[in-house]
Amino acid sequence: MLFCTGGAGSICSAQTKALVCLGANAAIIGRNVEKTQRMAAEIAKARPGARVLALGGVDVRDADALKSAAAQCAQELGGIDFVIAGAAGNFLAPMEQLSANAFKTVIDIDVLGSYNTTKATLPYLIESARKSKASGKDSTANNGTGGRIIFVSATIHYTGLPLQTHVSAAKAAVDSLSDAVAIEYGPLGITSNVIAPGPISGTEGMERLAKSDPESLARSQKSIPLGRWGEVKEIADATVYLFSDAGNFVNGHALVVDGASWRMNAGNPGGTWVYPDFLLSGGKVEGVKGGKKAKL
Ligand code: COA
Repeated sequence: MLFCTGGAGSICSAQTKALVCLGANAAIIGRNVEKTQRMAAEIAKARPGARVLALGGVDVRDADALKSAAAQCAQELGGIDFVIAGAAGNFLAPMEQLSANAFKTVIDIDVLGSYNTTKATLPYLIESARKSKASGKDSTANNGTGGRIIFVSATIHYTGLPLQTHVSAAKAAVDSLSDAVAIEYGPLGITSNVIAPGPISGTEGMERLAKSDPESLARSQKSIPLGRWGEVKEIADATVYLFSDAGNFVNGHALVVDGASWRMNAGNPGGTWVYPDFLLSGGKVEGVKGGKKAKL
């Protein structure tokens, strides 16, 4: 059984769909009632007989509402084995135009919301971890896993990004929260990890960029070592890994799924060495010392 906040969004709905496909039942939690219901019905089509609850009208900033949602999920689906804390708020704004309340709003949705999600679901995760048979010893056995939480974060705070002060600060805190859960609840069998998506196609922000400006779209894709944006399926695949028997011993980790995008944030070396054209051209950098004895 999966409990997913932000489950009506493009990334979290793909994560939920993948797990439903593999046999899970799920509850998706969102602020917008109609959007949440529509997405739950869509996800349920992934597997005949699947149960996908739509718990709309729930704001992750409201701890009591989340507690009730977790209780309803456990009662109707029989427990909570997996949690995705995916609800997030985002908009582009420079610090100059970012009011204290705007900053607080994103901190509240991302950080407090993830904390509320953790607190509301931990009693069920602890129970699920207690029953889980995943020992890590037998890769051929059909071991049941449980007691696992994933926080959907980002990579922008690794280097920093203009217009994203609020989101960078929030995601850094979300990463720390995940680590704290891993340390304090690992002894009870819980695993807590972060998935940090890079630029992913089909998400709200990236779609806006793709539609409005084909040139910056091409530039953005070219700057990524794998030469393209990611797909929501690739975030779903990472989710399946962390929740599956294959992820038994992975705890307190941030799994970056971005084609190595964030590692290029320092930009190009400049001059004629435009990434990746120069590397692909086979050209040589003049004046490099050493290498006299090199065979290659
Ligand atoms: N630029 C600057 N400030 C902004 C802003 C923007 N684009 N959008 C909202 N704000 C400010 C508001 O002006 C307000 O501050 P103020 O009181 O000083 O005027 C503050 O943020 C709160 O806005 P409000 O609309 O009341 O918050 P909300 O809780 O209804 O909405 C948001 C939350 C702001 C994150 C909204 O963008 C949202 O709900 N987004 C949908 C979810 C989302 O962002 N998904 C993407 C996930 S990556």
